Amino acid sequence: MPHQVLCGDSVKALKDLAQKVGLTFLDPPFNQQKDYALRDDDMPEEEYWAMMKDVCASIFNLTNEDGAIYFMQREKNAEFVLRTLRETGCGFQNLIVWKKRTSAAPVRGGYGKRYQIVAFATKGEKPKTFHRLRIDPELPPSYKDERENGAFVTDAWDDIRELTSGYFAGEEAIRTKNGERFHKQQTPLALLLRIILTSTKVGDTVLDSFAGTGTTAVVASQIHRNSISIEIYPKNVAP
Ligand SMILES: C[S@@+](CC[C@H](N)C(=O)[O-])C[C@H]1O[C@@H](n2cnc3c(N)ncnc32)[C@H](O)[C@@H]1O
Repeated sequence: MPHQVLCGDSVKALKDLAQKVGLTFLDPPFNQQKDYALRDDDMPEEEYWAMMKDVCASIFNLTNEDGAIYFMQREKNAEFVLRTLRETGCGFQNLIVWKKRTSAAPVRGGYGKRYQIVAFATKGEKPKTFHRLRIDPELPPSYKDERENGAFVTDAWDDIRELTSGYFAGEEAIRTKNGERFHKQQTPLALLLRIILTSTKVGDTVLDSFAGTGTTAVVASQIHRNSISIEIYPKNVAP
């Protein structure tokens, strides 16, 4: 089946999977007291990272040699993300900074937070597939000449708009019939498009073990990749 959707706890479900994958996108709850239906998002830190280590170890086993793993987290947890990847055998490639376009979280007595991190790692030393994409970043006014062929994507992503709430949220977010966001933590399609286009080929399989809305599967199907999605909350799987 090109697109499998499994309802269950990924800690267990990943152990039962046999199919190898070329890329995994991990966007778990960040353990920051968000309101998730079936999951306690306020676990003791040690317990949370033991769970993530278990998940990453299973993903490492399921990944094709030189396949890719992208692990998204809040910036505060960068240290734990890198440690978890290293301890489960993954080869670190880049720490991507995804800078939000319009929103920031205020911090009392500190700088407001305006980015998330996405750690890019591989099974093996170097990725087997890495398509260098070009984008057209806005040029500072002092640049006289347009860059005809754009610029290669770097590890600083400031051109992908986040899905916010409120008037400026736009229509990209998947919504229910009464206009509510289907899932408050939906990842932008553009972010997944960049990741999947860069690190897979047509016909490869992409895994998302905290699937939420199913954004990864949607993008995978649009660009002819196969997908496996795991989501614990039945309502997200069959609304
Ligand atoms: C941050 S959201 C992912 C959002 C997703 N990237 C999207 O575009 O919609 C995390 C999701 O993981 C699910 N989840 C939490 N714990 C899980 C677990 N142990 N196994 C599978 N899914 C889980 C939550 O229900 C939630 O939908």
